[in-house]
Amino acid sequence: MSSAPGPHPFPAAAGGPGHHGPASLAALAQQLSALMTGAWITQMVRVAAELDLAGHLAAGEQAVDALARACACDPESLFRLLRALAAVGLFQETAPRRFGLTPLADLLRADHPASMRSFARLMGDEHYLAWDDLLHCIRTGEPAFGQRFGDSLFDWYQQHPERAAIFDGAMGDISRGASGPLLDALPWAECRHLVDVGGGRGALLIRLLRAHPHLRGTVLDQPTVVEGLTSPADLAERFAYRGGDFFAEVPAGADTYLLKHILHDWGDDACAVLLERIATAMAPGARLLVIEQVIPPGNDPFPGKLLDLNMLVMTEGGRERTPEQYASLLARSGLHLQRIRPTASPLSVVEAVRA
Ligand SMILES: C[S@@+](CC[C@H](N)C(=O)[O-])C[C@H]1O[C@@H](n2cnc3c(N)ncnc32)[C@H](O)[C@@H]1O
Repeated sequence: MSSAPGPHPFPAAAGGPGHHGPASLAALAQQLSALMTGAWITQMVRVAAELDLAGHLAAGEQAVDALARACACDPESLFRLLRALAAVGLFQETAPRRFGLTPLADLLRADHPASMRSFARLMGDEHYLAWDDLLHCIRTGEPAFGQRFGDSLFDWYQQHPERAAIFDGAMGDISRGASGPLLDALPWAECRHLVDVGGGRGALLIRLLRAHPHLRGTVLDQPTVVEGLTSPADLAERFAYRGGDFFAEVPAGADTYLLKHILHDWGDDACAVLLERIATAMAPGARLLVIEQVIPPGNDPFPGKLLDLNMLVMTEGGRERTPEQYASLLARSGLHLQRIRPTASPLSVVEAVRA
């Protein structure tokens, strides 16, 4: 699942112990109110993405009335949306009722190299609806997604290809953002052949192979995700897609296996099956690189603590894990946790070899 920092991820505490005066109480109430209304912002950004407002403004600022005609919207309501979005840094009113992009809004363009448009559409739809049942999750320990949608997440996507395409696009959005710090974090010179297990449409692996011409790689994902995809022309000799079920079989003989945002989708028993498949497939001396947000102890702000709740809501048993939880999960499948490398992003790389 996805890294999803919220609209008010970690507001600074407005008052600590001993600060209970009227001014600090007002500040606390304001801080709390911003947290309580985060869902409004999720929907504002989602609607901007659905209407492709950033795409319409890519060529330059526009008057609201013209923009409303282009997007088939009510002009006054669109004006109110843009005014509110401008108040949180997306879009700017450059003259009365005339709006243009900001650097944040620019990332909602579908053709921006760091586009986050699919992610905005994902967070505002089935994720948003499932989060409505968080109370059910906390009371029962059951996932909310199945309760609301009647199926598990990946089975539901098999039945809803138009939403699955947005999910796959959103995973690409997240991978593009994270791949820079990952590229820098590891000694890729030591690798030759990588398999990205559950690698989606291959955003991470394609970037890795382009940065390191000595590497070749395979993306394994569900047949419905990779069918019809072909290797980029510049990587035709070094890159391949493979459709399959990673719980059944993983391509054998590579020296490096990647699992990015995969283990956090599943409970420990399912992870153990997948890790055993990988342990069996690994060439002698091969490494497994598990890329996840590893939960630190204590109260410090960390986006993985929110993402962990997203896993609770959306998946059957998925979760973010601590270093100790990764060590015991890997050991259960005959793998040994060698080290955990932090990166410049919230992601860490958990490195494992066969025990
Ligand atoms: C959260 S996404 C992560 C994608 C990619 N690794 C990334 O970080 O962007 C999980 C991926 O696992 C794939 N997946 C789920 N179940 C699978 C299975 N049984 N076999 C192969 N792939 C599977 C999904 O299709 C999806 O692409």
